[in-house]
Parts: sequence; C-alpha cells; structure tokens
Amino acid sequence: MSTDRLTTIDPLTGPLRGTATVPGDKSISHRAVLFSAMAEGTSTVSGVLDSQDVRSSMAAVAQLGAQVDLKEQEDGSLAGTITGWGSAGPAQPNERVYCGNSGTTVRLLMGILAPWPITVTLDGDESLRRRPMRRIAAPLMKMGAKFEPVGQELLPLTETGNPALKAITYDAPMASAQLKTAVLLAGVFAKGTTTVNEPAPSRNHTELMLPEFGVPTTAAARTASVKGPAQLKASDVCVPGDPSSAAFLTAAALLKPGSSVTIENVSLNPARIGFLRTLERMGANVEEAHCGQEGKEPNGSITAVYTPTLRGCEVPPQHIASLIDEIPVLALVAAHARGVTVFKEVGELRVKETDRLAAIIEGLSLLGVDAWEEGNNLFIEGNPDLEVPAGLVFDSHRDHRLAMTWAIAGLCGQNSVQIRDFESVAVSYPGFLSDIRALEA
Ligand code: S3P
Repeated sequence: MSTDRLTTIDPLTGPLRGTATVPGDKSISHRAVLFSAMAEGTSTVSGVLDSQDVRSSMAAVAQLGAQVDLKEQEDGSLAGTITGWGSAGPAQPNERVYCGNSGTTVRLLMGILAPWPITVTLDGDESLRRRPMRRIAAPLMKMGAKFEPVGQELLPLTETGNPALKAITYDAPMASAQLKTAVLLAGVFAKGTTTVNEPAPSRNHTELMLPEFGVPTTAAARTASVKGPAQLKASDVCVPGDPSSAAFLTAAALLKPGSSVTIENVSLNPARIGFLRTLERMGANVEEAHCGQEGKEPNGSITAVYTPTLRGCEVPPQHIASLIDEIPVLALVAAHARGVTVFKEVGELRVKETDRLAAIIEGLSLLGVDAWEEGNNLFIEGNPDLEVPAGLVFDSHRDHRLAMTWAIAGLCGQNSVQIRDFESVAVSYPGFLSDIRALEA
C-alpha cells in the first residue's frame, strides 16, 4: 500500500461527554431533493445534508431542469427552495448525468426518468461503476423503459423512457429501498396500481414522503403501492438527523471508557435503528427517547454510555435491512464483545461502495480479531480485552463508512492509526471527526 493519502487518527485524550447533533439524514435528503425536482411548484426544504452524495442528486436534477436554490446554513445544513419540472417533465440533457459515488442518486433517477420521452446516459465514479444496476433496470424494463446496452449490469447505461408505462406488481429478490423506490417512482406515472413486495422490510422513507407530495400511496410490512397516474405537488420537507451518522458517535461512546453522550434530533424511524436493537442485545447501555415527528418521520434522541461488558449476539436475516449501513461499525463493537457475533445473510455488503464484507474482515484481522465469512454470514469472535496495536494502517477502500469505522478504532484505542483515503467521509458525514472531537471532555 502506498503511503500517500494517509490520515493519522490519534486516540481521544479523555472520555466523550455531552450532547451532539448529527447532520441531516442522507436517505431523506436525497428524497427531498429528488421528489421536489419531480413536483409541480416550489418546495421548501431544510436540514438537508450537505455532503458529496446529496450534492450529486442536486447537480443531477439541476441538469435535468429543476431549479435548485439551496444555501448553506449556520449549522452546516442546506436549506432553501427547489422548483420542480412538474408535468413538463425533465429536460433532455446534453451530456451524461454523472452521479459520483451515489447509488441512491443513480438508482432513484432510473425510476424517475422511466416515464419521460428523453434519452439519458447515467454514469458514476469508479466505485459506482462496479455496482449492480440490472436489479433496477429489470423491473423498469417490464414497465416499458429501455436500457442500453441491453442486459448490461454496470454503468454507464443509457435509458430511454416510455410515456406509456405499465403498472406492475413486483416481487423484489432482495430487500432494497433503492429498488423499491425506483419502481414506485416510475409507477407514479403508470396507469393503475404499482406494487413492490419485499422479502424483508427495507427503509420506508419513500412511502412516508410520497403522500406529502400528494401521491396516493399505501404501505404495510414488506409491501408498498402507488396509484397512478399522479402528479407530485410541491411540499415542505424538514430533514431530521441521520441515525447512520449517529451510529458512529454511539459506538465511540460505548467503546471509550468513561463516556456518556446524547445525540439529539435524530430520525428514530424503526426501519433505520436496527443497530440500537442489536446493541441492546449485546448488553450495550443505549437508550432512545422519542420526542415527536419531522413530517411523518419519528425523531428524538439517542443516549449511549460506555459499556465494558458487551456480549456477542446473532443478528437474523430479517433484521439486516434495518442496520445494513451500520454493519461495519457494529462489527467493530462486536470485536470488543465477549463471544461470537453473527450477522446472518449479509451478501448485500459485497455490492456496497466497496465489498464491505471483505473489508470488514480485512480491518478486523489487522486488529488481531478473528472474523470470517461462511456462505453469506459474517462471524466475529470478540475480545473484551482488545487493544489497538501500534502502527496500524487501514484501507478505507474509499468507502465513507469504513473510513469512519476504522477512525473509531483509532480514537477509542491505545495507539494512533492511519487510514488511507479518509477523505471519503465527505460522502455522508464531512464533519465526522470534528463532531467527535467536540465531545472530548
Ligand atoms: C438507501 C438504501 C440502502 C442503503 C443506502 C441508502 C436508500 O441501499 O444501503 O445507503 O436511501 O434508499 P439498498 O437499497 O441497496 O439496500
């Protein structure tokens, strides 16, 4: 490994204490931007996450004709107005639409573009070009959209929409909110009811937000439907804090002796806080307090207190979608627990920003922790006396969640660590390090 692009993370000098807030939820921010761009009229959005991924969505919809007027606020969020293309539809872009590192941007756009008579080439960075797209193209093709090259899995892909989309009922092969959302967003413009059934519940932000934009939507466990044709109407969205970002502060408080931290104004949507359920089963001292709603999203605070007596647990397949993005940091917590932790059926980790299954095992083995995969299951043999050896160099594989996970190992451990391409945290949580350091007592 070359020594360029290495960032040194020094151990915290004291425990983490006090209250913190985290930036806006990434999934909800994408949807606020994309749905406002589709809507007729001017939407007002606030609390939007200012990160590379959300900027990819903003740039894409601006290129397609939406008027995006969001400004940086004192708290680091973005707020302002977005005037959508509404019933006129998105404009034919002159160049490919570049989605950077953002899977949510490209996959939701595939659904958004499906009903319109334009031809758009979608592309992304090196990582996004390695991620599977046929899972989205397949149902959209059943509805009538075209993708070229035909049958190709990877970006770049060129999509031609079809104003006569057919409504479908789709049994999704995996629990994926990106897939579900792409089909539902296309279904908004198809005549009849479009339904997506899932093998396990995935995050439901789309089903919660679409009715706010005037789209007839029904949802229950593992199924969601929209009734088309409908036109989204401008709305107001206030984005709560991101539980996936809060998970890193939570883990740091659990691992750093003497810590006690409360994270306020976080989305407590049950489809997103599976990590808290797992931490509870590991015996972690965590608590959530509900204090209201942001639109239809429940929100409140999370308190985490240092816990030296963590124990391993088994996380069943049906819970995986509710903590999919938190598995890297949960794996680090599990590495400090007594006994074995098993994450069941986590094959989806292989097709995230990098192969997270391989990267978790690689990083944990650097720490001297025994971690392995068997089929699609991830096993971690924890060690309550785990110490971070001197001189470790972790590779983030340019994956924001891995960069933050290995940073927690360095912050809460006994020795500094180095992380390759730590800057990738800008994808979801640019202020991660300063937010943690601000809690240092
Ligand atoms: C997301 C859905 C999940 C998640 C991703 C964001 C979303 O992906 O991992 O970070 O905003 O819909 P999948 O839909 O591939 O599970």
